[in-house]
Amino acid sequence: MASYDVIIIGGGPGGYVCAIRCAQLGLKTACVEGRETLGGTCLNVGCIPSKALLHASHQLHEAEHNFEKMGLSAGKVKVDWKQMLAYKDDVIGQNTKGIEFLFKKNKVDWLKGWGSIPEAGKVKVGDEIHEAKAIVIASGSEPSPVPGADVTVDEKVVVTSTGALALPKVPKRMVVIGAGVIGLEMGSVYARLGAEVEVIEFLDAITPGMDSEVQKTFQRILSKQGLKFTMGAAVQKVETKGGKATVTYKLRKDDSEHTTEADVVLCATGRRPYTDGLGLEGVGVELTERGQVKTDDHWQTTAKGIYAIGDAIEGPMLAHKAEDEGMAVAEVIAGKHGHVNYGVIPGVIYTAPEVASVGKTEDQLKKDGVAYKVGKFSFMGNGRAKAVFQGEGFVKLLADKETDRVLGCHIIGPGAGDLIHEICVGMEFGASAEDIALTCHAHPTFSEAVREAALACGDGAIHA
Ligand code: NAI
Repeated sequence: MASYDVIIIGGGPGGYVCAIRCAQLGLKTACVEGRETLGGTCLNVGCIPSKALLHASHQLHEAEHNFEKMGLSAGKVKVDWKQMLAYKDDVIGQNTKGIEFLFKKNKVDWLKGWGSIPEAGKVKVGDEIHEAKAIVIASGSEPSPVPGADVTVDEKVVVTSTGALALPKVPKRMVVIGAGVIGLEMGSVYARLGAEVEVIEFLDAITPGMDSEVQKTFQRILSKQGLKFTMGAAVQKVETKGGKATVTYKLRKDDSEHTTEADVVLCATGRRPYTDGLGLEGVGVELTERGQVKTDDHWQTTAKGIYAIGDAIEGPMLAHKAEDEGMAVAEVIAGKHGHVNYGVIPGVIYTAPEVASVGKTEDQLKKDGVAYKVGKFSFMGNGRAKAVFQGEGFVKLLADKETDRVLGCHIIGPGAGDLIHEICVGMEFGASAEDIALTCHAHPTFSEAVREAALACGDGAIHA
């Protein structure tokens, strides 16, 4: 038996970041992880591998659609799917080994195996029981079943994001259930690789919760890229036979039933907290109705000395939200002041173009009765974007009508996932739109579009 100041259960972005920060703050720290490699869903079967496939398939798109325009000829670019998967696995390996290195560097013990909490202050891993003054649950999430539908995932024909990252071949036809982040990122990958992709979505708009103007533009651009959308449709069942699937769905407008065939069906209708086997009930850790671990403002659960962070608790299921909570709870455990500003957590979709947002949407401001102004700027007015065939999309900045304080920003366009952070920093410092507009932005960069949107909140954009 070993004795620690903190044991963290889960080695994903929430857990490993928490472990490193705890160690940096002088706490004797261990992290329990049952996978063969550290990094959790994000590094092994989520954010990182999907970005590798998005990058590779985007290069193919560039070669097929833009090379000739720039005077480049490479003949017909062929896809070696096995090599693409090997490249993706190599990227995973580099990243997961990097975390292992960071654990060694910071003297964090990796307790290999699946952990549980037999009693307060104790964590069991395999047959060993370890003592801990504080325990942090960072056990993450797993794909949810398709709600109200008869669907059995086999990770071959009917897959979750995990199976979609390792298909044996590029399917001829793919049906994606759910037009959320996973469905659109993975749908884009396979569409670029030549699959016919149909996305079936329950709601009337894609990417629920996003700014509605962004939703419309995004759907239009993806449709142009070849994704077919069937909206307002609830999937009822998926049947498989002879390596093929038949998807049955009902259109909400008239209750009519339809079927469609596919070689692969990707179920992307959300994720749910994963807390199985932790023994939470026995130690008094309560869950919400949705299975999330209940926590207070300091990530303390209903059991003293047991904390929880990341996808296992309330809030957006995002790696960076988990990381922030991991750092903050480490500070709390070390007797400092951990804080997460939940009003400034960016969301990014890594399609081409990228989509990014932070803060309030226009719909939320209307609902809250806040008087606001909108500054919008199209990437068509941005020289750099036009030079690289990425003039589609816009930056939309929302600011308080009276004080000019930035309340939110929504971007669809090149580099959106990086551009959004200028606004995040601005919002953390309570910036006004004018502050952004008066800041010199290098020319020619995509970031000028953000400045122009800020100018549009005042006397007007220059290149509009
Ligand atoms: P999601 O919650 O983003 O979208 C699920 C979609 O499925 C919704 O639009 C919903 O209306 C639809 N749906 C539900 N039931 C349906 C049915 N029976 N028939 C048709 N449509 C149905 O979930 P998603 O894409 O699975 O992502 C899960 C989590 O992972 C999210 O919290 C997401 O934020 C996170 N994630 C984030 C990424 C990023 O930040 N780039 C990348 C991948 C995942």
